[in-house]
Amino acid sequence: MNIKNDFPILENGITYLDSGATTQKPIQVINAVEKYYKTINANPHRGAYSLSIEATEAYENTRTKIAKFINAKSREEIIFSKNATESLNLIAYSYGMENLKKDDEIVISIMEHHSNLVPWQKVAKATSSRLNYMYINDEFEIPDEEIEKKITDKTKIVGITHVSNVLGTINNIEKIIKYAHKKGSIVIVDGSQSIPHMKIDVQKLNADFFVFSGHKMFAPLGIGVLYGKKELLNQMTPFLMGGDMIEYVYEQETTFAPLPNKFEAGTQNVGGVIGLGSAIDYIENIGYDKIKEIEEEIVNYAVQELRKLDYLELYLTPNNKNHSGVISFNIKGVHPHDVASILDSEGVCVRSGNHCAQPLMRYLGIDSTCRASFYIYNTKEDVDKLVNSLNKAYDMFKKYIKQ
Ligand code: ALA
Repeated sequence: MNIKNDFPILENGITYLDSGATTQKPIQVINAVEKYYKTINANPHRGAYSLSIEATEAYENTRTKIAKFINAKSREEIIFSKNATESLNLIAYSYGMENLKKDDEIVISIMEHHSNLVPWQKVAKATSSRLNYMYINDEFEIPDEEIEKKITDKTKIVGITHVSNVLGTINNIEKIIKYAHKKGSIVIVDGSQSIPHMKIDVQKLNADFFVFSGHKMFAPLGIGVLYGKKELLNQMTPFLMGGDMIEYVYEQETTFAPLPNKFEAGTQNVGGVIGLGSAIDYIENIGYDKIKEIEEEIVNYAVQELRKLDYLELYLTPNNKNHSGVISFNIKGVHPHDVASILDSEGVCVRSGNHCAQPLMRYLGIDSTCRASFYIYNTKEDVDKLVNSLNKAYDMFKKYIKQ
């Protein structure tokens, strides 16, 4: 099975190592979206004619597919959004703003992406609650003691990324969820960097909310998911108001539609939903066991080869344990944007910068990193290409590096 052949964009020979930002799309997903627009495009829930009914069925069947995929108890617990960021903002506004009061605590980790951090700053300010952080140790992990110290009886919301988009750390969310529930807090899991790589069972995890973006798991850009426990979603008032989320509208008052429509105002990204359904089929056809096997082989090889480069600073958990397919690194003394430009000139795509995680960078005492993030279409040749390009970059810059 040569997975790379499924990805037309990779035919041009680029070494794509930025799947943490967005994955490439397999031909199966591209075809599914094209077929949708060529054969059944219409506005779901809005027409009594057959095309609109077909579009509605395709849209709603995908909701059912996603519920099964993450083992939600009910399809009404699946809300479509633009991306994980929008899902998190929805929770912050519809749950956070309504439920927090003075001196309550929100606890997040220092490795959160800005999208699971900035909305909580806003909620904390608006409700006079406090925003506290769980910090990481030298091994880039949140120690159990830190979880138990920071989550207290005052904590009402815990927000945690399942996998860090900078460090690749796989957080012990099972422990965090159990402990937070014991203290009476709800838990929001940002699964953007985990669901592309590992099986998610929201009932087993017992997460109150779980969010993710489709585009990091082979689907088109612009489609995301919010999973929430029905009893919580039912209590919440909508974040966006508009068409299709209402029941009755009077001149001065409105009643809202039941779940899930209550949270889906306006015309939705139906093509994106169809693409996400096809991406799920693609993942399920390969299987998470196989995905794990492929990724472990590539990432272990990458770590082994990158560790040989003594000019490189690597930001990795020890022995590659609790680590996903993200590797951050720096050539000591060289700005990551310069390194990334040289890699680009060699056809190697990596992300460089603060990765939307400025507080984490500050905590680590650095400004930015280069980041290679791997997925199942990557091969050992891609790793060799990365290493060779890094050697070229180092040769080019070494005379300027201050010792
Ligand atoms: N959140 C995405 C990343 O980490 C964009 O690259």
